[in-house]
Amino acid sequence: MRKTWATSSVDLHLDVAGPRVRAGLEAALRDAVRTGRLAAGTRLPSSRALAADLGIARNTVAEAFGQLVAEGWLTARQGSGTEVAGPPPVVGAAPAAGPPSGAGAEPNDDAGPADALTGIGRGGPRYQLRAGLPDLSSFPRSAWLAAARRALNAAPALALAYGDPRGRPELRRALAEYLARARGVRVSPDRIVVCNGFTQGLALLCQVLADRGAAAVAVEAYGLGVSMATLAAHRLTPALLPVDGGGAVLEGAADVPAMLLTPAHQFPLGPALAARRRAQAIRWAAATGGLVIEDDYDGEFRYDRQPVGALQALAPEHVVYAGTASKTLAPGLRLGWLVLPARLVRDVADAKALADAQTSSFEQLTLAEFIGSGGYDRHIRRSRLGYRRRRDRLVAELARRAPGVRLTGIAAGLHAVAELPAGLSEQDVTERAARRGLGVEGLGSYARGGHTRGPALVIGYAAPPEHAFTGALARLCATLADSEG
Ligand SMILES: Cc1ncc(COP(=O)(O)O)c(C=O)c1O
Repeated sequence: MRKTWATSSVDLHLDVAGPRVRAGLEAALRDAVRTGRLAAGTRLPSSRALAADLGIARNTVAEAFGQLVAEGWLTARQGSGTEVAGPPPVVGAAPAAGPPSGAGAEPNDDAGPADALTGIGRGGPRYQLRAGLPDLSSFPRSAWLAAARRALNAAPALALAYGDPRGRPELRRALAEYLARARGVRVSPDRIVVCNGFTQGLALLCQVLADRGAAAVAVEAYGLGVSMATLAAHRLTPALLPVDGGGAVLEGAADVPAMLLTPAHQFPLGPALAARRRAQAIRWAAATGGLVIEDDYDGEFRYDRQPVGALQALAPEHVVYAGTASKTLAPGLRLGWLVLPARLVRDVADAKALADAQTSSFEQLTLAEFIGSGGYDRHIRRSRLGYRRRRDRLVAELARRAPGVRLTGIAAGLHAVAELPAGLSEQDVTERAARRGLGVEGLGSYARGGHTRGPALVIGYAAPPEHAFTGALARLCATLADSEG
């Protein structure tokens, strides 16, 4: 007897096998609980409703429920019906491996390939000062939900269909207005392709470049692991550009068809690309037909002076501007955007269509509404203020507690670089930090090719929730003070 029952809050396919109906029903329910198909707390239909669905006597169902309550699989409470209690402990068995999948497992529990790629740890120490994350606890949940509601109410039904692979026109219009105003980008909506974060944007560009015969891309010698992995996945060889106080040293890019830069705030070392190098990059692109990919991952966060405007504005036909909501809002949104030279729009849109048709219309419409209503600017301004305060506390506390440490890259962004006194090892210091319950990474983990600089930590001061920042900072200072001896 196979039935799908949908009379109550649950919709469950139940396979009641064998001639003995009650035993079959009990076995099917036990199995559903054991395998996690029925999660703890799930409310079951009434015995009357289930009996009607299955075409069996109500008493049979009531007796089966009674038996499973007695065995501890279900709980029955006067007035609130019958609920799944979760699997009962098995005497003599090893401790349960945890709840059935999807039933309350913490997302922090396991590390996945992303850890290796991005260096963004999941789980681990109680306090985190790893680079790469904004303060996720300050995500503007109510404002975002309100924007989602307004956006969905206003959206025509067709907005929920397949659409232009470049993205929803509402979002491309809102982004064009925002990027021109806030980052100085020269942009019109038809040049934008909305993608699932910078990571996908870079993958699409790599694909188009590789299809056009590119074999190598110049990248900064320190940077994000996932970008290198994306290049490698498209069989593009990285040509490494050294980084100094003026950002990337561009001479090494002579023979490549494209270079990937973080001009506003070199990741993770921190300098802005010097004015003469910005001009040099544009001259190179104009002379060779090469492409500059501008990763503007945290351009909104600049503290001591005016934000450095987008390099793209100097030569929109030679520079791809790439932005993301991963630092301004949350990486989990997976929203990013490319502003493309005319010659790339069609190919990148085709690559996007092939990759996944389009980015979710719901998230796009919500972000469009969030930007249009001023919520995005408000959130960024509030976050900037908060991160700036944290940065100031970091500077002050380190000067006081660990004067041998030199803090650089502090003018912008969500992280700083703490140069350690010579003789200290990054591994030793990060292990000491871990013993104090603090996760922080050495600069070496961002080195591409080889780690050629002195020992340093990359401190992502934005990452902890507000209430944990003081504790994280105290642990960092204690670790550094100890290490300095
Ligand atoms: C240098 C750099 N670029 C881009 C990103 C954002 O990537 P995505 O938009 O795929 O989340 C990050 C996030 O850590 C980053 O550090």
